[in-house]
Formats: sequence, C-alpha cells, structure tokens
Amino acid sequence: MTKTNPLYLKDILSADQFDTDALSYLTKQAATMEKIVNTKGATDVLRGKIMTALFYEASSRTFGSFVTAMQRLGGGFVPLQGVTYSSVSKGETLPDTVRTFASFSDVVVLRHPEVGSAQIAAEFSDKPVINAGDGVGEHPTQALLDFYTITKTFGSVRGLTITMVGDLLNGRTIHSLLRLVSLYPKVTVHLVSPDILKLPAELTSMARKRHVTLTETETLDDVLPVSDVLYITRVQKERFTDLASYERVKHYYVITPKVLSRAKKTAIVMHPFPRVGEISLDVDLDPRALYIREQIKNGLYMRMAILKSILKP
Ligand code: NCD
Repeated sequence: MTKTNPLYLKDILSADQFDTDALSYLTKQAATMEKIVNTKGATDVLRGKIMTALFYEASSRTFGSFVTAMQRLGGGFVPLQGVTYSSVSKGETLPDTVRTFASFSDVVVLRHPEVGSAQIAAEFSDKPVINAGDGVGEHPTQALLDFYTITKTFGSVRGLTITMVGDLLNGRTIHSLLRLVSLYPKVTVHLVSPDILKLPAELTSMARKRHVTLTETETLDDVLPVSDVLYITRVQKERFTDLASYERVKHYYVITPKVLSRAKKTAIVMHPFPRVGEISLDVDLDPRALYIREQIKNGLYMRMAILKSILKP
C-alpha cells in the first residue's frame, strides 16, 4: 500500500482517478482528521492557505463541510455560494471566473450545473480544482465520504451487496460511488429505479467490465433482505423538463420502519441528502440509519483529508 500522498496539487474531477491505494491513503487520512476533530477540534496545518468555494448550484452539506473543513485545518476561504452577487451575473464566463479566484486562492471547489464543467475549470486554472458536483455527471468527494462510511462499518467493500435506490439516471453521487466500489472484488450491486430513471448504460457496462455482479429491478422486494448497504437517493426534480413525470416518480420508493423490517440487522441505510420524502423521519431512530449520525460528519473528515492531501506534500 502506498504511503506517499497521491493527491498533492492534483485536481479531483472524477472518481475514476482513484485506485485502491489512493482510497486506503485517504481513508487513513480521514480517520486521522476524525481524531483531531474529536479531540482538539482543529489544527493549523493549512495556515495561510485559502480555498475558494464557487457554487453555481444549491448546496448545504457540500458547501458547509468544505468551508468548515478548511477552517478546522487552519485555512481561510472565499465563499461564493449563489453566484448572483458575483460578476457571473454580468455574463462572466466560467474560465474567467475560475482564473480570477485561482489567482487569489490555493484551491477552487466548484459546483456547476453542466457535466464536464470541472474539467473545463481545471484546464483554465493553475490551482487544483475539486469537482463538488457537475450537473448529472459526478460528485467524487461525496463518493469518497460514502466510501469512508461503508469501510468504517464493514472494514472493506470487498464481498458487499450494495443496493442503490431512486434516481440512478441523474444522481451524480451514485455515478461516482459505483466507480469506487467497482474497484473491489466480489461486489454485488443491485440497481433499483423506475424505468425512466435507470442508470446510464455506460455506467452499467463499466461496472460489469470490472466484474461487479449487477442487477437492475423496479422493486426492492427481492434485494432488500440480502443488502448490506441500502443507498437511497432523491429524485432530482431540477433535472426534469416535464414536471408531470417528476410527480409520477418522486415518491416511487419510501423507506419506512415497516420496509426496513425486511432488511438485514447488520445492514446500513445511507442517503447523500437532502431527502424529500424518500426516508420517513421515524427511520432516523433505527440504529442502521447512518445518513445523519455518520455520513454527514464523515463528509467533514473526508473533506479535511482531501484538502490537506492536495495542499501539503
Ligand atoms: C447531492 C448532490 O448535490 O448531488 N447532495 C449532496 O451533495 N450531498 C445529492 C442530491 O442533491 O440529491
């Protein structure tokens, strides 16, 4: 296993750029960050470094955890959430905006509605760019924190049965997580979605090529009792042009205590959040529900690990 930092001054654009060594490295770093936060609260390892958080789409957890991660590492940040008050509203292009903030800061975290926007930003930026969601493309840092949550619980991804539920067509967190888990042997992934929200074919073939055992179904019935990880997603309203279709599928799956009574005792329930009705509030009390208790906090630890690895050799 590599002990050297694989991320120093690198962009993070896609989950595809990670191999299992890099994932072990980041998992260890995240565990160290978790200890630091829980003992001292903060460190000053990134004192003097500045992060720009450039968000062209709505965000709570990704924005908040990147900003707090930078502060807990002793660094500073430029918060551009809702670019309405920046020169973007005057018609400034993404390359110009990115080049501007790369001139002031050491790393740029970008969320943007277009697939490939982070790649374009990285081409124009002389500072590392982190993709915090590019439309329906990818969300690699969410996948890294999800990976950390899964390995903290089970020790490894190897041999697990992971069920991904909901909007698999538009859910970028799923698109990135599938890329990470498919790096490991003996992984089974059940894809559960309405027909109009099936995972894009290039992703199913990518996973199959990497020897993931993959099934696609419309119901949870058969897969629920055998799943180790139940990863629920929101139907992405903002990606629909036809709102009538959205209304038909928005609550296609609702996880309630009754539904969960059929799941393994050792299973975990994950969700990248926000939830808009896919998991009922009374599920939160179930010890298997990790989305608030674990997943959101792991986002802070993993993003601290990412920022430190990019900015320190
Ligand atoms: C996700 C996103 O933005 O893709 N949220 C997040 O970053 N945790 C999921 C979603 O919006 O449904």
